[in-house]
Amino acid sequence: MHELPEELLARVRQHSHYREVDYDQLARRFGAALVAKRLALQMKVYDKVAAHERHGVKRWVRPMFRRGILTSLYCSGQLGRARRMARDPLIVEREVFFDRLPHAFDGYRILHLSDFHFDYTEELPEIVAAAIRDLSFDVCVLTGDFRGETYGPYEESLRSLERCREALGPEVYAVLGNHDNIEIMLRFPDMGIHGLLNEGVWLEKDGERILLAGVDDPHYYKTHDFAPLREPLRAAEVAILLAHSPEAHRQAVEAGFDFMLSGHTHGGQICLPGGRAVIAHVKDTPREMVKGPWRTGQMQGYTSTGVGTSTLDCRLNCRAEITLHVLRKR
Ligand SMILES: [Fe+2]
Repeated sequence: MHELPEELLARVRQHSHYREVDYDQLARRFGAALVAKRLALQMKVYDKVAAHERHGVKRWVRPMFRRGILTSLYCSGQLGRARRMARDPLIVEREVFFDRLPHAFDGYRILHLSDFHFDYTEELPEIVAAAIRDLSFDVCVLTGDFRGETYGPYEESLRSLERCREALGPEVYAVLGNHDNIEIMLRFPDMGIHGLLNEGVWLEKDGERILLAGVDDPHYYKTHDFAPLREPLRAAEVAILLAHSPEAHRQAVEAGFDFMLSGHTHGGQICLPGGRAVIAHVKDTPREMVKGPWRTGQMQGYTSTGVGTSTLDCRLNCRAEITLHVLRKR
């Protein structure tokens, strides 16, 4: 028997896209406390959106913001280039070295994609599938933000994910981003995707193993929790963390992770010449963690610029990316 408050469930089910969800199953799988906390925060987003609509913020401010950027890009003759850049992900292949990597994992290839925001670029599933078709990799990881908005229907985004699912290979692990609703976790198994919500799995090869863990969104929901990972972390020679935003870096170091994979920032998406991000949507996070490789304490990290875009289907001075992390024993 779950312990989700009936009043909260009644509020959630006011939204037709959540009406058919089996919340008992969600609570059994992830615990009633975590599910209740996340659902309450999800409803807070809806309240905020409703308040914005009442005050006209959503109706005027966001479209004006979008139009402002589009007009600037058009007037500077860069709109076409910015739209092409958003549809041309760079394949970044890189090696990452570990002292304690089990021998069997020397050369192990992790394909990393982040921040699809499928609603903003209709043809993204086909772009992704074509870009990774000829890549070889052992496992694929997705670091969140499948949906475009932070509220509302999510079925369309999942259908888009399904359209490129086969290209992601047989073994796929995913965490949720700040745009994703927890109900998505119930849909992952049907797609052959293993969702990780404050939990870990052992990746095994030739009798050896490394830990792959994933935490919930540390940016908006802050429902990430490292406590359930303490025990597997003690037994791991090498532990890799998936967390939507690099904002969890301090807790990840304290927990003892060796390598952290994130997204969320989009690398700034619309950047100054030279690639400097104007907006990165992170707090208490060093600038070097906004994109690419970084290191803090004993932990290495990597922030993907993401394969999709948010708010606008444009990028400027900041390529979309698909990353291949090749693990190496030092
Ligand atoms: Fe994102």
